[in-house]
Amino acid sequence: MKVTRTAVAGIVAAAVLITIGTSTASAEDEPTSENTSTDQPLRVLAAKAGIAFGTAVNMDAYNNDTTYRELIGQEFSSVTAENVMKWQLLEPQRGVYNWGPADQLVRVANENGQKVRGHTLIWHNQLPTWLTNGVASGEITPDELRQLLKNHIFTVMRHFKGKIHQWDVANEVIDDSGNLRNTIWLQNLGPSYIADAFRWARKADPDAALYLNDYNVEGPNAKADAYYALVKQLLADDVPVHGFGIQGHLGVQFGFWPASAVADNMKRFEALGLETAVTEADVRMIMPPDEDKLAAQARGYSTLVQGCLMAKRCRSFTVWGFTDKYSWVPGTFTGQGAANLLAEDFQPKPAYYAVQDDLARAGR
Ligand code: G3I
Repeated sequence: MKVTRTAVAGIVAAAVLITIGTSTASAEDEPTSENTSTDQPLRVLAAKAGIAFGTAVNMDAYNNDTTYRELIGQEFSSVTAENVMKWQLLEPQRGVYNWGPADQLVRVANENGQKVRGHTLIWHNQLPTWLTNGVASGEITPDELRQLLKNHIFTVMRHFKGKIHQWDVANEVIDDSGNLRNTIWLQNLGPSYIADAFRWARKADPDAALYLNDYNVEGPNAKADAYYALVKQLLADDVPVHGFGIQGHLGVQFGFWPASAVADNMKRFEALGLETAVTEADVRMIMPPDEDKLAAQARGYSTLVQGCLMAKRCRSFTVWGFTDKYSWVPGTFTGQGAANLLAEDFQPKPAYYAVQDDLARAGR
């Protein structure tokens, strides 16, 4: 399977040839005269630009959709489990783990020569009901909850030890006003749960880069400022935090920070000693798409890609899915969608070409 440009104008821009070919798992190791142009898989262009290019993976789609599966191997050098490494899916019943789908993702990533981002150890969403109900009823006390979190981090990180290059240890722990998010964790464990989690994670897998990760932190707003203050405090307390992940869930209707602001925002975290990453990029729009919205979407993706490439220690750029066929957006934001690089039929959109161009320019 190969995504290539053609000179056909129109839809939304451009038509595409999808041809069946061999896997390009190690394509970045094999530069040929054929792949010196812009029209190469994203993972090849990204390798030349010095970053990994990843996607979130929906494991149901992976197992049921051949085109989806082949494009993951061809286009991406990093994968993130969209859902199957979250607590709710890993431990649906207390003490009963379901490792199968996550293990499959790690195995195929290895076969494809891809890195794996771990997502996520602490979040306030997609927690198992035995845990949330237990806390709500008082059956699980705060002390026990702290012990459960510690066990969860050790169990999961040890299971995948040495196989995950970046772990989202703490996901979305600050709200849009810049305060610690009022979650089951803050309410029961107090603010020290964040430092505890990073320390446990470090012990469980000393080689993984340990990340804070959030949305709406692309530019220097109150929320990103609060993360900056949190990171400074954690580092002052010798807490092993290594990375700041900018999710990058954008919307055409909201406008975008310029790439330079994204880069400057990343650089201030890098100046503290952290690496950075774009971890969940997508750019949604009010349906239906039209030429203007698709052009704006391409600009939105470019602000993130260029921002990452301008920063010095931005290690990876991950899109939160690559085809509109399996996007989380329509199910969450009624009337919105078309957020990914490829349309539902896997045709590349202007955003795909914009990303190719940005990577190719940086790789020259
Ligand atoms: O697994 C059940 C299935 O058994 C059931 O039949 C079906 C019916 O709705 O639901 C399935 O669960 C869904 C799950 O995705 C797996 O498909 C949940 O309803 C659905 O809410 C869940 O959505 C995920 C969402 O996180 C949860 O908040 C999205 O797929 C996933 O893309 C999204 O990812 C988050 C990142 O982890 C963190 N940052 C924001 C990002 C987007 O919200």
